[in-house]
Amino acid sequence: MSKCRIGILTGGGDCAGLNPAIKWAVKTALDKRLTRECGTEFEVIGIRNGWQGLIKIDPSNPDNGKYIIPLNEALVRTWDRLGGTYLGSSRTNPYNPEKDCSKLVMENIAKLGLEALIAIGGEDTLGVAHRLGQAGVNVIGIPKTIDKDLSGTEYTLGFETALNVITDAVDNLRTTAGSHERIFVIETMGRHAGWLALEGGESSGAFIILIPECDFDMNKVNELVLEGRKSGARYDIILVSEGAKPVGGAMILKDEAPDSFGHVYLGGVGEFVARGIRKGTGLETRSLALGHLQRGGDPCAYDRRMGRYFGIAAVDLIVAKDFGKMVSIKNGEITTVPIKEALKPSLVNTKTQYDAERYSGRRAILRQRKKKV
Ligand code: F6P
Repeated sequence: MSKCRIGILTGGGDCAGLNPAIKWAVKTALDKRLTRECGTEFEVIGIRNGWQGLIKIDPSNPDNGKYIIPLNEALVRTWDRLGGTYLGSSRTNPYNPEKDCSKLVMENIAKLGLEALIAIGGEDTLGVAHRLGQAGVNVIGIPKTIDKDLSGTEYTLGFETALNVITDAVDNLRTTAGSHERIFVIETMGRHAGWLALEGGESSGAFIILIPECDFDMNKVNELVLEGRKSGARYDIILVSEGAKPVGGAMILKDEAPDSFGHVYLGGVGEFVARGIRKGTGLETRSLALGHLQRGGDPCAYDRRMGRYFGIAAVDLIVAKDFGKMVSIKNGEITTVPIKEALKPSLVNTKTQYDAERYSGRRAILRQRKKKV
């Protein structure tokens, strides 16, 4: 009977859906039927804190669970119900130009005897996985990010739970917005992609939605608000993606110092828009950034299911020795794409998925598609 040791890690911003994916990768790999079917005995170890675990671990010394956790069915049994990641996460980049640790990571993978490595992450974590794959490591990717900005897949873990957080928050804000006849500007995450604001706004019925893919004109926002008031609106809900920017302006930053992947810390556009409305219309306006609440909470039913499917499919790829791929969903089918393909950013199509006239969710779908043809 041959043996195969699998490593699994979660990198980048945490979110709901990671634990279900870990649980199902473990359950699938350790399934006795699979062992019998392919004549291989699998073992799974969890690497703690993403790529940081593979940099900091000393494989020659007992680790005592600091950077690796042996995973078994009993341990992961309840994980699919729980948010965040039990393996921990970090934004560590082994290819950081200021301190390249990629060689050390590859050495440690070899010393740990990992024959396959499942990386669950977004563009940064999967970008590292791709480069390691090119250097000969047997990597498999699972897509996760509340930003839903990966290509080659229609879903990334965490997105639907984050939409539920946004929708609940808007529902709660409506009562206070209505009681005071105020405008609420709610800032969502999403970096360069407007998916969270757009689909969160569509789910919660927001009046105006501002996304990074379409620069906004503050005068037009104010015109739309006043137009709404004329047609009887007592209060308004406006959703703004953290990466949205005014025409001719730049993205608003909380901190311009980049992290090891070169990302700056976005935030503040919600208050910028609220101030613009107060000044331009004289209407009482408040802003609120939902921030990391969008990454929190237990996975919704869809994230539990998708985590399950992605976890199982990742092990299927290992069994088939089909490395360098990311599991994905396309047209409702679980499938795979080369990790490299997933790294191209997926952004909102402002012609078919957004109403740039009303700065809002789409109001034509079949008609719009026809127009495009
Ligand atoms: O996970 C992606 C993301 O949620 C972005 O939308 C956001 O800009 C970023 O994480 C913030 O992450 P952190 O505060 O963990 O660095």
